[in-house]
This record gives sequence, C-alpha cells and structure tokens, in this order.
Amino acid sequence: MTDITQHRLATRYGQPDIEVPNNWGPVLDELLNHRSVRSFSEAPLPEGTIEALIAAAQSAASSSNLQVWSVVAVQDKARKARLAGFAGNQAHIHQAPLFLVWLADLSRVARLGARQQVELEALPYIESLLLGTIDAALAAQNAVVALESLGLGSVYIGAIRNDIEAVAQELDLPPQVYPVFGLCVGHPSVERPAQVKPRLPQAAVLHHEKYSVTHEASAIEQYDARLGAFYRQEGLKAAGWSEQVIARLRGVASLNGREHLVDELKRLGFGLR
Ligand SMILES: Cc1cc2nc3c(=O)[nH]c(=O)nc-3n(C[C@H](O)[C@H](O)[C@H](O)COP(=O)(O)O)c2cc1C
Repeated sequence: MTDITQHRLATRYGQPDIEVPNNWGPVLDELLNHRSVRSFSEAPLPEGTIEALIAAAQSAASSSNLQVWSVVAVQDKARKARLAGFAGNQAHIHQAPLFLVWLADLSRVARLGARQQVELEALPYIESLLLGTIDAALAAQNAVVALESLGLGSVYIGAIRNDIEAVAQELDLPPQVYPVFGLCVGHPSVERPAQVKPRLPQAAVLHHEKYSVTHEASAIEQYDARLGAFYRQEGLKAAGWSEQVIARLRGVASLNGREHLVDELKRLGFGLR
C-alpha cells in the first residue's frame, strides 16, 4: 500500500485495519479525498466546464436508459439569490458562480407519450418518482467526481426541497418535474480549505452475506469520538454523530417544510400510486 493510499484511508477512517488491492489508482485517491466545499473564490469557471460536467453526468447509468432527469444551470446572481431564499439562505449558494439544480424529470417521456398518443399507464407510480430521483442522483454524483478531478469543489443543497413549488415556479418547471437537490460549484477558496470528514467504520455499513448489527454499537461509539475530534479541530462544537442524528431526526421542525413533500409532489403532477 502506498503512503498516499494509507493517508487517504486514515483520513477517512482513522487508523483502519483495511486491506485494499495494490492496483488502487488515482480514481480511488480522488474519491476518498472528497469534501463538501462551502467557501468559494471569485474566479469564474473555465469555459466548457458545464458541458464537461454534464457529459460526465450523462455517462452515469440510467434505469432502462429512460434518462428521466434534467438539470438547470443557474449563473444569474439574482436568480441564485432567489433560489437561496427558498433554501435556508445558505451563503454558499450566493457565492458559488454556478448553481446546478438537478431534477427528476418525467415530463420528457410524458411529452413523448402524448406526441405518440399513447397513455403511459406505468408513469403515475412512486416507482417512477424513484426512477427519476435515482437517475438524477447518479448523474449528479458523476458530475461531482468530474468537477473534483478538475480542481473544483461543490456542495449539495438538499434544502432546495424545503419549497419545491417555489423552485418549480422560479425555473419554469413543467408538471412531473421536481428539484431533487441543488449543487453549488466553484473554485474552493484557499483561505478556508474544506477538510475530509471521517465516515462510519466499515463495520457499521458493510455486511457479509447477511445483515448483522453485532459490531454496530461499538462502531458508532468509535465514530462519535472521531467525528467530535474532527469538529473540534475545525473549531466547531464537538458533537458526535449520535447527537447529530438525534437532533436532526427527533422532530419534524428540522424538515423545514419538507414534511409537506407528498402534497407538493402531487400538486406538481406526480402520481404517487
Ligand atoms: C443530498 C444531499 C443534500 C445536502 N444538503 C446540504 C445542504 O443543504 N447544505 C449543506 O451545507 N450541505 C448539504 N449537504 C452536504 C452534507 O452535509 C455533506 O455531504 C456531509 O456532511 C458529509 O460531508 P462531506 O461531503 O464533506 O464528506 C448535502 C449532501 C447531500 C448528499
């Protein structure tokens, strides 16, 4: 194992007892080096960046090749500000030169059906909503890997779902399209570089042959300590993971409007059978 591989694994997991293949290469290096970036420089994006990211996104797998996703690239400051307003006014949305809004998009295939005068009976099911959401997520993550390989940084914005109808109106979305999440994209600021955030030990997420919780509690205990130390190093309140999970999920207030998603999705034209 090379020093860099060892470093990547140690940063992600502490001192892991993990064996990896010796043909571990630059793609794995990049993947393990991911960090969300919430502070961007003012430098504009090189020409062709959006097109490169979308080529990477469209290269992701797509369920039955239906390609039921789309993306809106927002660079206009005023529009970004309005979108930020719907998403908890997060400063990085204003700051990033590019805000990508990833959409689950059933409208393109619905229009195709209408042009061919065929009723698409399989469309108004939750399965289709999942298809669009999964396709959009896979596409977006390919774009994230691509942009990180270009030296850029990004952060997903799930808060765009706080008010999907307002976002739909702002972006002129047709029926049967909803914003899954946003993605701020830009050059990471050098003054406040983001750090790699540790993850749960593999013992908590990897099961062999059958699901087992045997090592779960001790893995979480270890992780609480490590994440707390990470936050302390970052000058933040040293909450462990358990504390964060409970705080995020114990009441509906933290859903910030997302508790109304079913009704909103229905009003946006999704059948949720
Ligand atoms: C679907 C999704 C939505 C997210 N929404 C937000 C958000 O609204 N604001 C934010 O600052 N970070 C958001 N994040 C970033 C996560 O907080 C971040 O990925 C997590 O803390 C792990 O940190 P890392 O990406 O630096 O490894 C989101 C991440 C995902 C995958």
